[in-house]
Amino acid sequence: MRNIEVSPSIISSDLSDLKSEIKKCEDAGAGSFHLDVMDGNFVDNITMGPDLIRAVRKSTKLRLDAHLMINRPDKYYRDFLSAGADVLLIHYESPVDIGELINKFERDGIRYGIVINPDTEFRKVKKYLPGSEILLIMSVYPGFSGQKFINSIIPKIKEASDYIKSEHLKTRIEVDGGINDITGKQCVENGADILVSASYIFNNDIYKSIQTLKNL
Ligand code: DX5
Ligand code: ZN
Repeated sequence: MRNIEVSPSIISSDLSDLKSEIKKCEDAGAGSFHLDVMDGNFVDNITMGPDLIRAVRKSTKLRLDAHLMINRPDKYYRDFLSAGADVLLIHYESPVDIGELINKFERDGIRYGIVINPDTEFRKVKKYLPGSEILLIMSVYPGFSGQKFINSIIPKIKEASDYIKSEHLKTRIEVDGGINDITGKQCVENGADILVSASYIFNNDIYKSIQTLKNL
């Protein structure tokens, strides 16, 4: 059985009790935390900035992934790193020169992953995979938690998984949006290594839902 990493998106947690929410996730076996940063421009919603990430950093030693749904990752990424993010998840669709940004990350030894929206083809990001720790395949259009999983992205997980294996790359496949016990299982069966979840975890029993996802 493969070891599935669960990455809770704290956007749906009780932010007034963040420290104990984080502790509950850790006790349930979460492998990292997912921080959904939205700027009201790249997506139609505004969520957290570096200050909240700083607060999360104080409460956990687990890896923190900053999912940057912002128009100017090139301008702000340093703020997220200094707040304590470990891995920057950058959208292929960001209106910046992704190749140039990745070159900067490579030069400065910054850990990163590349994100693709549901209608972006996998082949577009193949060339960025060798240095990407994570390939994040969105299974909803980014902007809000609680949306329905888009089934048509499943073949893309398989395609990415086959490619990563055939090229002997180390990139791990992560899926984000509408993940629950049923959709999560489909993702895992097709090659996903990491599952992000907000509402399935925080609207249910945290321990049980994380355990369920880990053991799919
Ligand atoms: C969507 C975010 C997701 C989202 C997940 O824009 O990137 O991380 O919060 O929420 P659920 O698990 O509720 O779909
Ligand atoms: Zn996300």
